[in-house]
Amino acid sequence: MSAKSSASETFRAAQTRSDEIEARIGTDPGSLRMLTGDRPTGALHIGHYFGSIRNRVRLQEAGVEILQLIADYQVITDREGVGDIGANVRNLLLDNVAAGLDPERCTIFAHSAVPALNQLLLPFLSLVSVAELQRNPTVKDEAQSAGISSISGLMLTYPVHQAADILFCKANVVPVGRDQLPHIEQTRVVARRFNDRYGAIFPEPDALLSETPLLLGTDGTKMSKSRGNVVELRMTADETAKRLKSAKTDSDRHITYEPETRPEVANLLLIASLCEGTAPEQIAEEIGDGGGGGLKARVTEAVNTYFAPLRARREELAADPAYVEEVLARGNARANEIADATLAEVREAMGMTYG
Ligand code: TRP
Repeated sequence: MSAKSSASETFRAAQTRSDEIEARIGTDPGSLRMLTGDRPTGALHIGHYFGSIRNRVRLQEAGVEILQLIADYQVITDREGVGDIGANVRNLLLDNVAAGLDPERCTIFAHSAVPALNQLLLPFLSLVSVAELQRNPTVKDEAQSAGISSISGLMLTYPVHQAADILFCKANVVPVGRDQLPHIEQTRVVARRFNDRYGAIFPEPDALLSETPLLLGTDGTKMSKSRGNVVELRMTADETAKRLKSAKTDSDRHITYEPETRPEVANLLLIASLCEGTAPEQIAEEIGDGGGGGLKARVTEAVNTYFAPLRARREELAADPAYVEEVLARGNARANEIADATLAEVREAMGMTYG
């Protein structure tokens, strides 16, 4: 089979398993343990919210156990240095909690604070070939978009580190976008090879592939903080209005929803639609000949109304300087307990229990 057709085979199989998991969320949420992670590289924006955060909260409310990882070591895969890591971790945690993740029910932790998780990397790396790592399409894409000419050892091996993130807690469901699928496949391979060689310890996790609308930035290109084209969750209503006011539209005053031919206008309609729970076509019809101005006013109102409770809650949480540390300390302690137990099992399975 060609590489391409085997990749689409893999995708179809992953989609089938994802559909099964989706059904199980309704019927047997107690059988699922979800882990997902974000890199702390900046504050979250509405693309993150509609792409993944909202889905996490949905799973939590359905009764799935949630482990939420702050993947701080992954920050240094494709950039030099950690940046303002403390502030980024803080913002990430506040964004997630303000959006509805409940620290009383979830384990929110940073992988740098969990030594036993990181130690799993050693046996896991022995199960993976360099050629296999070099084939990972997501690593290649990320290196390319970061403009990196020489790939570091961490960049090459981070999918295996991600396998440790997922397997240390024996998570069986990982909600991700399609770009992360190679890493989930790598994780399944690591689990399978470990189990074959040393005895069955790890479940093979499934990706939960959500249907997420791809939102663009306000300039019509990919959303990216560095391009200044995103609406951050933490922005004020005024900052949001200003950002959306500068959004690109087109010269046709009659607003219609045509993603192919009018991508910028369609994108703003889609954002309004997600916030209002109304079809984008209907919103377009209501704006009619209102032009770019009418469209921007509508989407600004929609975003500010939808995110007002989240923003109010975020401000409240941020006002207590000790809050983030408390939540993280609790989450890290629990993650360490789980990781220590798994590492003990791994060392036992490997016969490394002599002293
Ligand atoms: N690689 C993910 C990203 O860039 C972040 C991540 C790290 C992750 N560890 C994970 C996602 C484990 C899911 C599961 O977005």
